[in-house]
Amino acid sequence: MLINGASGSGGPFAVQVAKALGAHVTGVCSSKKADMVRGLGADDVIDYTAEDYTKGGPRYDWILDIAGNKSIFEGRRALKPSGVYVLLGGTTPRIFGCLFWGLLISLATRKKMGFLWWKPFHAEDVALLKRLIAAGKIKPVIDRTFRFSELREAISYLETGNAQGKVVISTSMPGA
Ligand SMILES: NC(=O)c1ccc[n+]([C@@H]2O[C@H](COP(=O)([O-])OP(=O)(O)OC[C@H]3O[C@@H](n4cnc5c(N)ncnc54)[C@H](OP(=O)(O)O)[C@@H]3O)[C@@H](O)[C@H]2O)c1
Repeated sequence: MLINGASGSGGPFAVQVAKALGAHVTGVCSSKKADMVRGLGADDVIDYTAEDYTKGGPRYDWILDIAGNKSIFEGRRALKPSGVYVLLGGTTPRIFGCLFWGLLISLATRKKMGFLWWKPFHAEDVALLKRLIAAGKIKPVIDRTFRFSELREAISYLETGNAQGKVVISTSMPGA
């Protein structure tokens, strides 16, 4: 499974869930966050500043595109003939393009492509996540915790793009 955008807010959870379910995981992120993504269990990491996973290279059974910066046709190139591609983020035109072309590609080929095929709070999925969390297989990655009074600094820090995981605002810290 390839996870594009493995180092952001959602990506680290996707990497951990995929690993817990037994997938061989390739994470795509910037070089400065490669070690964090490997630390989450990713077997391989692709630095998007140096390599484009849609051009040559291996083909994947599953692609979860969280960054949403590739077209559905680029994503299709990186899929195995009966692979599954799910887009989770990106611009509105990219999402509508994925809905339209994804449906056609899914009808015309063995590849399945589309936007966010998940059922929010589906009982079986929630139960699985609870089991994985209880077993310590899914943990939030927290970079820094700020006091509520430091909200402005926290947002500025987040905007640098350097945070390695979540930035938390706490109201329970002394002086918050
Ligand atoms: N539909 C939903 O339910 C749902 C839920 C959550 C998120 N989303 C959407 O998913 C998208 C991402 O969310 P997020 O909160 O995880 O974002 P985020 O925290 O900003 O993370 C963005 C991720 O994309 C990576 N990235 C940036 N430029 C890239 C490129 N050129 N190629 C490949 N990867 C690149 C970043 O890597 P580096 O940090 O290493 O640069 C990072 O891993 C957003 O569009 C958001 O709206 C949707």
